[in-house]
Amino acid sequence: MKSVKESLLERTSVRRYEREAIPQETMDFIYDAIRNTPTSYNGQQFSVIDIDDQSLKEELYMMTNQKQLKTCNRLLIFLSDYNKITKLAEKKGFEVPPFTNTMDAVTIGIIDASLAMMSAVVAAQSCGLGTNCVGYLRTVDPKRLAEMLKLPKGVFVVCGLAMGIPREQPDLKPKQPASVVFHKNCYRQDEDKMVEEMEAYDDIVKQYNQTRAGGTSTNDWCDHILDYYRHAMEYRILDYLRDQGYDVKR
Ligand SMILES: Cc1cc2nc3c(=O)[nH]c(=O)nc-3n(C[C@H](O)[C@H](O)[C@H](O)COP(=O)(O)O)c2cc1C
Repeated sequence: MKSVKESLLERTSVRRYEREAIPQETMDFIYDAIRNTPTSYNGQQFSVIDIDDQSLKEELYMMTNQKQLKTCNRLLIFLSDYNKITKLAEKKGFEVPPFTNTMDAVTIGIIDASLAMMSAVVAAQSCGLGTNCVGYLRTVDPKRLAEMLKLPKGVFVVCGLAMGIPREQPDLKPKQPASVVFHKNCYRQDEDKMVEEMEAYDDIVKQYNQTRAGGTSTNDWCDHILDYYRHAMEYRILDYLRDQGYDVKR
């Protein structure tokens, strides 16, 4: 088993996998790690759909054009889930406040599901597996995916996680330097210096993109990220949340 340090610091997204299945005891460990995730007031407002059905994986690949969805051994879909508590409360005769109509509920569900996904990533890495978070599953066609996965009201997709025995070892991607990630006691006030440091980082990513193993590009980091934002302006996530029973008002 890899150390926590190695699991965290040598992790890269892996999108190519061997055909071999993930051993059951490894899956058991990943499940336990997910279940023991810290969650908001232990509400555990998340659940996970574990997909091993090849035809379903291929259908998801057709929807997204993300090859790793069909070649991974397991695809875990992390959900924000208020269905479980609602159904239990109803059975016990409690009145359920319309909590899912608040941004707080949406935020909590996303945080819980995201932390659970990170527990899975670290557990999987420590067992030598390769993982790739797939957020595109959340945005590509939310209504269709909710139907395919038979999601009840109060449940929505936060992110997918493809896992398998790695067939590639991509280079580590350069990340932002500590100076722009960490602030001491309050948000840093030297904005000009921060922008200079961000420019230097942008150059490092540009150089990395020109030389990295397996597919080079001339992209700089800033424009690449803005490209996503430009594209994502089209998404209508509130409409999707409404379809799933969340009428967010405040
Ligand atoms: C929430 C989230 C969504 C992501 N969505 C996708 C995706 O749809 N497709 C993909 O290939 N990678 C996806 N990734 C992986 C990122 O592209 C990757 O983590 C990032 O480029 C940094 O590379 P690294 O993981 O190798 O450090 C996603 C990662 C996160 C955390």
